[in-house]
Amino acid sequence: MIVEPAQRTRQTSEYYFSVKLAEVRALLAQGHDVINLGIGNPDMMPSAPTLNALQSSAQQPQAHGYQSYIGTPAFRQGIADYYQKTYNVTLDPAKEILPLIGSKEGITHISLTFLDPGDEVLVPELGYPAYRAVSQMVGGVVKEYPLLETQGWQPDWEALAGLVTPRTKLLWLNYPHMPTGAPATVELFEQAVAFALKHRVLLCHDNPYSLVLNKKPPISILSVSGAKDVAIELNSMSKSHNMAGWRLGWMAAAQPYVEAVLKIKSNVDSGMFLGLQEAAVAALQNNEQWHAERNAVYEGRLEAAETLLKTLGCTWDSTQEGMFLWGKLPESTQSAEELVNTLLVQQHVFIAPGFIFGPKGQRYVRVSLCTPKERIWEAVERIRSKS
Ligand SMILES: Cc1ncc(COP(=O)(O)O)c(C=O)c1O
Repeated sequence: MIVEPAQRTRQTSEYYFSVKLAEVRALLAQGHDVINLGIGNPDMMPSAPTLNALQSSAQQPQAHGYQSYIGTPAFRQGIADYYQKTYNVTLDPAKEILPLIGSKEGITHISLTFLDPGDEVLVPELGYPAYRAVSQMVGGVVKEYPLLETQGWQPDWEALAGLVTPRTKLLWLNYPHMPTGAPATVELFEQAVAFALKHRVLLCHDNPYSLVLNKKPPISILSVSGAKDVAIELNSMSKSHNMAGWRLGWMAAAQPYVEAVLKIKSNVDSGMFLGLQEAAVAALQNNEQWHAERNAVYEGRLEAAETLLKTLGCTWDSTQEGMFLWGKLPESTQSAEELVNTLLVQQHVFIAPGFIFGPKGQRYVRVSLCTPKERIWEAVERIRSKS
């Protein structure tokens, strides 16, 4: 390379799945039938009205121009209605919602908006890798707070208070938790809001899994009294509406937070295609039965995924929510990385090693439920036949 990339590229490595899925593609290209249980990429269809709305919108001559930076009024109203019906949270559609091109980009916009170089960010370890990567990219200092199996993968608020300094600006939280499947609870959210108010840190709650295999009614951090003073919630249609490739998400927060993020975001991209927004409005109206049917399919895959974990000698917690099974490796397995690589190369089965979500994941693996159960059973057979 004649021109050196910026310093920030040295702190960041390419996203694990970006590298690993290239290996999967290479195996597929060689004619191997790889069963991919690695990523949370829903394999089911969006609802029929969603697809119809996209199709009819795309036929309209006026649908193809630039769109507003803050989304159409109908999309924001659709999100507000969805928050009311799903979480019993009232949002002002004109002021408290900002559509995003998937919630992942929201992590970057929020970090760019609120972090100055040297500001400290409390990041869960274990957690979604983007919180850490993006905080570092924008010059923030990552302070990891441990999530331990012995504490139900929930934060220890006293220990967290010990990490707070005058430079602490932001706290990332995500329940139902990925990758452990630990559920959200009202008590946890109340503690989080109280913590954020006391220490004057921005609480960013990432909520993409609340409707997937949830055992209790879904909750939003914004349902806690006082939350709007100090919290932003990211939400997404990727998992809950089978629309991961459509890149549809949003942030919900009080007006000043939305306006601050819009200042950054409107300089980075433009409003999303009208067809996507009109389809999203339809999808947000999917009824409870639609969500229950999707969950029933995931539920029907659990037995196969549990058997897979059992075949590997893993143990797991059956209270998990979300679209994954998080399993603890037996003592006899030396290394998750070696196991995952062997499974991929020899059995052509891909599962995710836990360490990609943080060092505390060294002794774990994650199996995705986003593959038909017959294929998961086939993976079980392949592993059984070679072990
Ligand atoms: C915890 C968590 N947050 C955010 C995302 C990103 O979702 P989106 O597709 O909305 O960008 C994911 C995706 O896997 C996730 O697991």
